[in-house]
Amino acid sequence: MSNQDPTPNATDTPLMQVKGLIREFKAGEQTIRVLHDIDLSIHQGEMVAIIGQSGSGKSTLMNILGCLDQATAGDYKIFGQSVSRLDADELAKLRREHFGFIFQRYHLLGDINARDNVSVPAVYAGMDGQARSERAEKLLSDLGLGDKVNNRPSQLSGGQQQRVSIARALMNGGDIILADEPTGALDSKSGEDVVQILKDLNAQGHTIIMVTHDPSLAAQAERVIEIKDGHIIADYKNDDYQHAEAQPAAVIDKHRKSAFSSFIDRLFEAFKMSLLAMRAHKMRTLLTMLGIIIGIASVVSVVGLGKGSQEQILSNISSLGTNTITVTDGYPYGDPRRQYNDYNLTPQDAQAVANQPYVVSVSPQLNSNMNVRYRNIQEAASISGVGKDYLDVSGEKLALGQGFDEQSILRRTQDIIIDDNANKTFFPDNASPIGEVLLIGSVPGRVIGVLEPNDGGFRRSVDSPTLYMPYTTMMSRLIGSAYIESFVALIDNNISSAAAEAAISELMIGRHGTDDFRIRNSDSIRQTIEATTATMTLLISSIAIISLIVGGIGVMNIMLVSVTERTNEIGVRMAVGARQSDIMQQFLIEAVLVCILGGLLGIGLAFAIGEIINRVGGDSFQVIYSPTSIIAAFLCSTLIGVVFGFLPARNAAKLDPVEALSRD
Ligand SMILES: Nc1ncnc2c1ncn2[C@@H]1O[C@H](COP(=O)(O)OP(=O)(O)OP(=O)(O)O)[C@@H](O)[C@H]1O
Ligand SMILES: [Mg+2]
Repeated sequence: MSNQDPTPNATDTPLMQVKGLIREFKAGEQTIRVLHDIDLSIHQGEMVAIIGQSGSGKSTLMNILGCLDQATAGDYKIFGQSVSRLDADELAKLRREHFGFIFQRYHLLGDINARDNVSVPAVYAGMDGQARSERAEKLLSDLGLGDKVNNRPSQLSGGQQQRVSIARALMNGGDIILADEPTGALDSKSGEDVVQILKDLNAQGHTIIMVTHDPSLAAQAERVIEIKDGHIIADYKNDDYQHAEAQPAAVIDKHRKSAFSSFIDRLFEAFKMSLLAMRAHKMRTLLTMLGIIIGIASVVSVVGLGKGSQEQILSNISSLGTNTITVTDGYPYGDPRRQYNDYNLTPQDAQAVANQPYVVSVSPQLNSNMNVRYRNIQEAASISGVGKDYLDVSGEKLALGQGFDEQSILRRTQDIIIDDNANKTFFPDNASPIGEVLLIGSVPGRVIGVLEPNDGGFRRSVDSPTLYMPYTTMMSRLIGSAYIESFVALIDNNISSAAAEAAISELMIGRHGTDDFRIRNSDSIRQTIEATTATMTLLISSIAIISLIVGGIGVMNIMLVSVTERTNEIGVRMAVGARQSDIMQQFLIEAVLVCILGGLLGIGLAFAIGEIINRVGGDSFQVIYSPTSIIAAFLCSTLIGVVFGFLPARNAAKLDPVEALSRD
């Protein structure tokens, strides 16, 4: 802009120059021409009064001069630059840095105090916060409002409000002050005061353009322009008037902050305004948030419930011994070396695996089929040699008696445990077979335990009677072998079976020098359960997500209402130089804030629900919250804010300043 360095003939080059300006409005099918072919030059330091009848086009002309509105045709140059080529943000910059608007109905922001109202233009201009409030307070006290800086507009009289709006117009310098009927709403005394202030400002070098109905006020101006039906019908000078020779001091350049810190500042101000707006409409904000609260709470609780039930089912399964890895002697199927197979899996291999930290217990195993006799009952039965931890590993439970212990294995006792089938087969009438002796082949075995009936669930279900004896006994007394057929390792629940399988495989290859064994993990059931609960969680979560979307649409509706309700505020902000992005930002922040707050409340609600379920469910059932689901819920609510806040925010940013200002 060229006005910062006045040239010797600065007063000869008009500050504002209008040539052949036409303004038309569309009214339905018709276009109404409100300004006809206006030619006008206004110089720096002039004080101009525009008079004319109501509807003659005064405000329309003012709005065009103040870059709030654009001409339909014709040229308007300010500082020698044609405004028709400027975009919305460049026009906003002009308004912000050079114009100060004073309106008939003050147009102050109702939620904030006088100081903050005066500061608004400087926020958008990027003035340092400290300098900003100092200057605002100085301007207010210069206008006799030093003791009212903390009053909100509703706590001020009309004349005082108008003085606040004058201070606001001066905040960024206000080289050119545009006052549209500044005294219109005031009593004559206050009106006189306002005109006097404007005259004083003019003496300091501010260019003043004032619209008025009052001929006595107009007579006090340096120059009077009269408009009738969109034509200038008179333009004369008041010769007594002392023309201002001073230049208004540049304000904003002295205090301008870096673009980045100014951006942060504006963000913070927008944040503050959003909080104020939310506080002003507490009930509405809460109702808006309800959808988000319910959505987030259900997502988080459903995931927590899913995880809890999954964990519970898995712990049930684990107690059935399903988290096991079985290592079986012999080359893998399909391996050409299988034909050279011989036995080489030893109890020491099983022990080595048992020593691993991720292994809970191990049971070696070897199997055979033999004839078993008890008195006159003879039947073929499966015989399994097992370790002391067999019950742990298999998840089988004793109905009667006891299991094997260290000594049974070491001393190769001839104790046996029989399953329910064997119990029914050999002891049909006997209440307790404990202590009875069976003949396995030719080897006697004393029954020390009876297993519970097999429920056919996840366990192996066999029809033939099965007898268990210590594997050492079976190796030495029954088969005469130094090898075992397989062993089953129960894996720590916190370890992934795949990782455990890989580790055991590596250990075994280390011991044998080759993979002359087969390894299989029985994690498939676990995986199935995990997949099932994951599917359930996904299913319910998608329902919850639908409710989130519905909640988001609620937020959007309310934001649209909020934009409509605050159209006037938006107009004021635009008039003092807010960029479109500033307006957009403010409403986006508000939407995001509503959603984030709703999200946090939703997470809190989910915890409360979980606490209740945990209390009711006792030890048997726990809701388990995953941090991932909480973070996801939080991000989700933010995203909803952005997505559903976007449309209303954009609507707000695209508003036409003049139209916005004229709404209440
Ligand atoms: N957005 C618009 N659409 C259609 N017509 C409009 C619009 N704005 C203004 N007009 C018309 O333009 C004419 C001039 O309006 P303007 O507000 O400039 O008058 P004014 O001289 O400021 O009147 P007053 O003294 O009552 O404020 C009026 O007839 C009005 O109806
Ligand atoms: Mg008007």
